[in-house]
Amino acid sequence: MTAARGNELATGKLVGKVALVTGSGRGIGREVALKLALEGAAVVVNDLDAAPAEQTVADIRQLGGQAVACLGSVTTTDFAERLVKTAIDAFGGIDIVVNNAGYTWDSVVQRMSDEQWYAMLDVHLTAPMRIFRAAAGFIREAARREAEAGVENFRKVVNISSIAGLDGNAGQLNYAAGKAGIVGMTKSLAKEWGRYRVNVNAVAFGLIKTRLTEAAATADASVDIDGKRIKVGVNPDLLSAMERSIPLGRAGTPAEAAGAVALFCYPESNYISGETVVCGGGFRM
Ligand SMILES: NC(=O)c1ccc[n+]([C@@H]2O[C@H](COP(=O)([O-])OP(=O)(O)OC[C@H]3O[C@@H](n4cnc5c(N)ncnc54)[C@H](O)[C@@H]3O)[C@@H](O)[C@H]2O)c1
Repeated sequence: MTAARGNELATGKLVGKVALVTGSGRGIGREVALKLALEGAAVVVNDLDAAPAEQTVADIRQLGGQAVACLGSVTTTDFAERLVKTAIDAFGGIDIVVNNAGYTWDSVVQRMSDEQWYAMLDVHLTAPMRIFRAAAGFIREAARREAEAGVENFRKVVNISSIAGLDGNAGQLNYAAGKAGIVGMTKSLAKEWGRYRVNVNAVAFGLIKTRLTEAAATADASVDIDGKRIKVGVNPDLLSAMERSIPLGRAGTPAEAAGAVALFCYPESNYISGETVVCGGGFRM
């Protein structure tokens, strides 16, 4: 750990906070976990793949931060309770929840199976709802204690959406429905949890370079999700055409994406709630 990093950790914006970040073994989620940890938060790292999750934990500890893993798919029925329990047992509370775990499973509507449809609703909508439900008791009690003590303490929820959810995208009825649902869920939870001083916001990404969107020259670029091989990646010609139409001239990096999420975790956003901000270099579908 460098001295500079040590100073950041000691004086960061999130010292004393506990952050839960789903899907933080890779890509955007990993960068969010590292960024929040560098600002002093203790992080519960989740991924359905154990090795990358353990790597994120090890990297945070290497930087002098605090992290534990809560492995497994966010779609399993007992996951939300396990996640909440891990945070409370390891770090004594919950201050920030980032619902980031997700993926695409594309096809045109005439070829879309029920399994494909429900998989997108399960991972993007049902899983976050269960996490809110599991965390509600702790958050309500903590907010009550803080109000009695005359302390106004803000907690943060950041849900990850996509411009596909805001604008629609051919071949992504299932994904776009899930990501659009996140916007409605964000607005509704902001209204339910405002009384507990929870800021609930969403970040909708444009094109961010991760394994989901990497140039896939072969038709068999795929990822393993819960034992299923799912095709991901973008045709290289399509990818460069998309990049040319981004006003800022290129795709975003996972670190830039994490910056947008971090904005909604910092005290500077304490009076913003129920909003969805696009992080896409100015690009809309
Ligand atoms: N990359 C983009 O351009 C882009 C654009 C819009 C939205 N997003 C959203 O950003 C989020 C992160 O995507 P990314 O681009 O970093 O992808 P990624 O594949 O690089 O990382 C996602 C991580 O989430 C994990 N994950 C997937 N399903 C899971 C589950 N059921 N339980 C636990 N972990 C799970 C994966 O194993 C992976 O490590 C997703 O919600 C995605 O839909 C990405």
